Amino acid sequence: MSLDIDFVRQQFPAFSESSLQGQAFFENAGGSYTCGAVIDRLTRFYTQRKVQPYSAYEASRLGGEEMDEARTRMAAILGVEDDELSFGPSTTQNTYVLAQAFGQMLTPGEAIIVTNQDHEANTGPWRRLADRGIEVREWQIDPETGMLNPEDLEDLLDDSVRLVCFPHCSNVVGHINPVTEITALAHAAGAFVCVDGVSYAPHGFADVGALGPDIYLFSAYKTYGPHQGLMVMRRALGMLLPNQGHFFNEGSLYKRFTPAGPDHAQIAACAGMADYVDALYDHHFDAPAAANARGMAVHDLMRDHETQLLTQVMSAVTGRNSVRVLGPTEAASRAPTVALALGRPAEPVAAELVKHGIMAGGGDFYAVRALQAMGIDPENEGVLRLSFTHYTSQSEVDQLLNALDTCL
Ligand SMILES: Cc1ncc(COP(=O)(O)O)c(C=O)c1O
Repeated sequence: MSLDIDFVRQQFPAFSESSLQGQAFFENAGGSYTCGAVIDRLTRFYTQRKVQPYSAYEASRLGGEEMDEARTRMAAILGVEDDELSFGPSTTQNTYVLAQAFGQMLTPGEAIIVTNQDHEANTGPWRRLADRGIEVREWQIDPETGMLNPEDLEDLLDDSVRLVCFPHCSNVVGHINPVTEITALAHAAGAFVCVDGVSYAPHGFADVGALGPDIYLFSAYKTYGPHQGLMVMRRALGMLLPNQGHFFNEGSLYKRFTPAGPDHAQIAACAGMADYVDALYDHHFDAPAAANARGMAVHDLMRDHETQLLTQVMSAVTGRNSVRVLGPTEAASRAPTVALALGRPAEPVAAELVKHGIMAGGGDFYAVRALQAMGIDPENEGVLRLSFTHYTSQSEVDQLLNALDTCL
C-alpha cells in the first residue's frame, strides 16, 4: 500500500491556493500547512459555537463536546487515556509549566539530565532548575554527527537522577532517537522521562503508550492543526507532580498543567487532526481498526512516502564537498528535516532559493546549543534547513534539487 499523494493534497486548501502556486514548501519543520478538516472546524467554532463552553444551551454544549472530542480522539490515536492528554498554548509554554512543577517537587542534590541536541524549549526551562539547587547534567551529542549515544546516557545515570529530557527527533539533526531504549534505561535508574516529539510528530503520530515515556510533547501547528501544544502526561507522574492549575481542579489530570483558560476554538479544531488521520486510513485501508491502529497505519504510510523522497534528497546533498549534512545520511533513520552547514551564512542562500520557488529557511532554528556543539556559528552562519512531510510531491522534490544545483 502506498500513499495516494493526490488524495493527500486534496485535503489541504493551501495546495489549491492561487497565491501559493508554483512555490514548493520546504520549511515544514517550522510549521505545516493546515488540513481542511481543521480549518472547517475552526470556522464552524468561531461562527456557531464561540460561547463559554460546557453549559446547557446548544452552542455551549456543542462547543464543550467538540473540545472533549478532540482530547478523546487524539488520546486514542496516541495510545493513552483521555485525561492523560492536555492542550496548552505551545510546547515551549508546556515545558515551562512542567519545569515549575518539577522545581517544586525535586530537592537540592537531586539531578536531571538534559541534552544539547534539543530545541531550546525542552532544555532551557529545565536547565534553570539549577537556580533551585538541582544538579543539571548534560547528555552531549557527537560533535561530528550531532547524534546522541545511549551509552553516554548510561554513564550519567545514577540514583540521584529524577528526570531525563531528550527529543524524539532534533529539529536540525533529524536523527530519530530510540525512545523505547532510552526510556527503559532512564526508568531502570528510577528517573522519569520527558520527550519532545515536536519534530517527529509531523511524520506520523507516535504510539506514545507503547513507547513508554512519562511525558510526550508536540505542537499541533506542525501536525496539520491549529496553534496548540499537546502534552501527554502519564497518570502516575501527573498525579505526583504538584498541581499547577486552580486548586479546585487538582483532581482532574488534564487540568493540572494548564494554568490558564484554554483556547477553546483551537482545542476543538484539533479534532480535525483526528478527522484527517481517519480520512487517510479510510481512503487506503478497508479493515476496521481501533484509533491507535489507524494512527499507526497512517504513520507508516507517511513514513514510507517520505523515506522514498528523502533518499533522493540525501543522495543529492551528501555528494557535495561544500556542504556538511547534519545527522545520519540514511533516510530510514531520520526525519525529512535536513539541515546543511554551508561554511557561509545560510540565510542568503535561503533567500536565493526563493527565486526558484523554494520556501525554506536559514538560521539556528532555536537549536543554538546543538549547532554550537557541532562547531557551527549559530549567529553568523547557521544552517540551511530543508524540511518536508508526506504531502510533499515528487515534482516538488525535483524542483528543490534543481534549485540546489544552482544555489549551492
Ligand atoms: C523540536 C522542537 N521542539 C520544540 C519546539 C517549540 O514548540 P512551540 O513553538 O510549540 O513552543 C519547536 C519549534 O520549532 C521544535 O522544533
